[in-house]
Amino acid sequence: METARSSGLKDQVRSNWSNVALICRKCSKKLDGGFGPGGGERLAKALRKHLSLKKGRKAAAGIVEVNCLGICPRGAVTVVDGAASRDWLLVRPGADLDELAEALGLNVAPHP
Ligand code: FES
Repeated sequence: METARSSGLKDQVRSNWSNVALICRKCSKKLDGGFGPGGGERLAKALRKHLSLKKGRKAAAGIVEVNCLGICPRGAVTVVDGAASRDWLLVRPGADLDELAEALGLNVAPHP
């Protein structure tokens, strides 16, 4: 059997992510905001702020904007839960970010 090294895979890099949410960037742009306290933020940014998440692999969870996922819903943002990739979410503007974080398994400390 081939080892990871002999098959050309690189060494691993650790992250602190408990889970990752993939959020469609294009859906977010089309909505032009819709989330956060004033309703003027993109979903990824609003969610990151709401959960007090830093950026990058040292954060407690990953919120990553990705290219179009091919669903292109009207008036919603396509979101993939990294741990439950068979059921994608279509998140409408003004969605409750606590509920969304729970649905996505982003079990980080709730905001104050
Ligand atoms: S624009 Fe978001 S899924 Fe296509």
